[in-house]
Amino acid sequence: MYRFRIQGPTPLEGEVKISGSKNASLAIIPAVILLDSPVLLRNVPDIEDVRTILSIMESLGATVVREARNDIRIDPTTINSHEVPYFLASRMRASIYTLGPLLVRFGKGVVYMPGGCSFGPRPIDFHIEGLKKMGVEITIEHGNIVASVKRFRSAHINLPFKSVGATIHLMTTAVRLKGIRTVISNAALEPEVVDTARFLNGAGARIYNAGYDEIIVEGVDRLELDEYEVIPDRIEAGSFAVAAAMAGRILLNGVVREHMVSTLDRLEEAGAVLQWVDERRLMVSRPEGRIRPLMIKTAPFPGFPTDMQAQFMAMLTVADGVSVIKEGIYPSRFHHAYELQRMGADIRVDHGEALVRGVDKLTGAIVNATDLRASISLVLAGIIAEGETIVENIEHIDRGYEEVENKFNSLGARIVREMSG
Ligand code: EPU
Repeated sequence: MYRFRIQGPTPLEGEVKISGSKNASLAIIPAVILLDSPVLLRNVPDIEDVRTILSIMESLGATVVREARNDIRIDPTTINSHEVPYFLASRMRASIYTLGPLLVRFGKGVVYMPGGCSFGPRPIDFHIEGLKKMGVEITIEHGNIVASVKRFRSAHINLPFKSVGATIHLMTTAVRLKGIRTVISNAALEPEVVDTARFLNGAGARIYNAGYDEIIVEGVDRLELDEYEVIPDRIEAGSFAVAAAMAGRILLNGVVREHMVSTLDRLEEAGAVLQWVDERRLMVSRPEGRIRPLMIKTAPFPGFPTDMQAQFMAMLTVADGVSVIKEGIYPSRFHHAYELQRMGADIRVDHGEALVRGVDKLTGAIVNATDLRASISLVLAGIIAEGETIVENIEHIDRGYEEVENKFNSLGARIVREMSG
């Protein structure tokens, strides 16, 4: 177990390179199961969740070679197993993405019920109902999702909610089914959905309308692609943008404007100064005076991302007034609020809503990282807090942020990683 010891407050200044998208990589890597030849994936972040999904691919028999830190060659032709065991699947939510491709390849698949960040219930019923509509038979046995299919059929799946995971999983499952047409209505519009579709279409798939409400997939019988570059991580970029708004001036290198509109709009509303240097580089500076309070409600893309909620909460703890944060995706994703309180924040959480009264300053404390985005919010708070902050259980951060302390320290933060005593 590791922890961060953070000395604050420190101003942040400099340039940071944004890594490749975690959630796009976690979608694209399992989709490689469907390919007919090896592929080189570029700009894949070197983070724990990616290492886990690569271990899952290897456990299935794929040949995985890291050609450079962020370039990974995967050969799916050696895959010979259709089962993802407990010790791997339970580590992450995205393990479910392997099920559809395994069904397409083997006519059967067994994946242990997925794990992942714990901030309340995260069911997989949309995935299961969607697959059933496509002709798959599914039972849950001893914690395993046991699935088989004799013949896939064309289907029109109307998702009850714009689920990122269900959209990606069903869309991916449908691409290599020659003669089958799959329509996904109320599809999620997130950039990670679009990137997965762009990867698959690059390999010869026929996915239409990814990024719009209704996705249509016409099945093909062969998929092949030499290499593919994953999009930058909009949540990592957003996290550093919030850091800049709280503590200084950071040039973000690797930002796609259209992926981040709602995050950047809210930062400007809070008083941060945004200057585009060119297409991919954005300078974010803290406001002249204090942060202005905000009203935020998380929602599916293009709404304000739930994955940015904790970071904004950390920022708003020192705003000049009262902010309201409503969680529209995961009503109980507020564990960070209780940890921020230890640092002097004034936050009340009630029925999926947090009331944040800005205080003059935070003070260092021992806090516990409970999930990925909660953890980064505590690091941000530690950077502006007076004195020493210890963030316990930082393995949550390592799941999703590449070289996080090195990146912050290169900007002027004072963060040391150490073994928990
Ligand atoms: N939902 C269901 N049933 C389902 C699927 C989803 O009820 O079968 C509900 C969820 O409980 C939630 C809502 O639908 O209330 C949306 O969930 P969604 O399926 O969109 O989330 P996900 O695919 O499980 C991905 C990201 C999360 C991110 C959410 C929302 C990955 C691997 N994970 O999760 O990322 O918070 O979309 O944008 O892509 C993170 O990176 O820290 C993270 C948690």
